[in-house]
Amino acid sequence: MNTPIFFQLHQIDDQALAAEAAAGLQATPAHASPKFFYDPLGSRLFDTITELDEYYPTRTEAAIVAAHAPAIAQAVQALTGPHPVMVDLGAGNCAKAARLFAVLQPRRYVAVDISASFLQQALQGLQREHPAMDLAGVGLDFSSRLQLPADLVDGPALVFYPGSSIGNFAPDDALRLLRDARDLARGGGLLIGVDLVKPIALLEAAYDDALGVTAAFNLNLLKHLNRLLGADFDPRGWRHVALFNTGASRIEMHLEARAATTVRWPGGERHFAAGERLHTENSYKWTPDGFAALLRDAGFTRVQRWTDAQGWFGVFLAGG
Ligand code: AVJ
Repeated sequence: MNTPIFFQLHQIDDQALAAEAAAGLQATPAHASPKFFYDPLGSRLFDTITELDEYYPTRTEAAIVAAHAPAIAQAVQALTGPHPVMVDLGAGNCAKAARLFAVLQPRRYVAVDISASFLQQALQGLQREHPAMDLAGVGLDFSSRLQLPADLVDGPALVFYPGSSIGNFAPDDALRLLRDARDLARGGGLLIGVDLVKPIALLEAAYDDALGVTAAFNLNLLKHLNRLLGADFDPRGWRHVALFNTGASRIEMHLEARAATTVRWPGGERHFAAGERLHTENSYKWTPDGFAALLRDAGFTRVQRWTDAQGWFGVFLAGG
């Protein structure tokens, strides 16, 4: 039996994170990176979001992949050859990638997530089920740059980026990430899930569900900042706001101050007027042709796509 190998490529530095959070709070308008959602409770709230009736992306993507798995696998192997290296971006519990192992038969699986230690349990479990597969875990925050040690990807690879997490990137940043993904694939391909433009009511309901789980997910960011910065946010003083910005083609999430308040932390403070907002997330929605054009701008020449019957979500395979 093989054994997984691990690399931590960047420092998870609480000092630097706290400085980044403070700078966002003191900016006008105030903003916080969506990465601050994902403390242990926030990650569990996100998992709950994916089970809500209103939150269609996760189940729609899974249904597309399940319905077209043989065709997708054939198209992937036409780009990579048999037994590709599979690189999973934002791998988490590695479950989405593992569902493709039977059809793709990768010879090596490289799971990339912000913390290599979070990947340890998942990869140890996978190794028992796939004793001969090469498994690697890489701790990397690829939101600024996606580059891996060269010897990890030693031939044409399939880069896998499911879940529409590309939606958190503004178009210019998404383009840069797609270019990095193309370089990383070394002549192989990119399989990526993308949430699509649809009627506003459906989009807004997906980010403002009836049970208030997304509101809790958004508000939990304040508790995370309290811990990280030593700040004194009172979540009860803030309201969850989710709206579709049609001009920018993105869902925006904000936290709106219910009344005027001053938030304090060691070394800083920020006053918020009543109704003033802290911008916590953008989730861009693409048209199928718009995303195909972005892939071509990134250098891919062969683009295939699969969608659900309602055209709510797209799974794109790009190569060349
Ligand atoms: C993890 C970025 C894909 O944008 O739909 C879900 C995050 N935020 N509900 C998304 C999220 C609120 C999610 N992504």
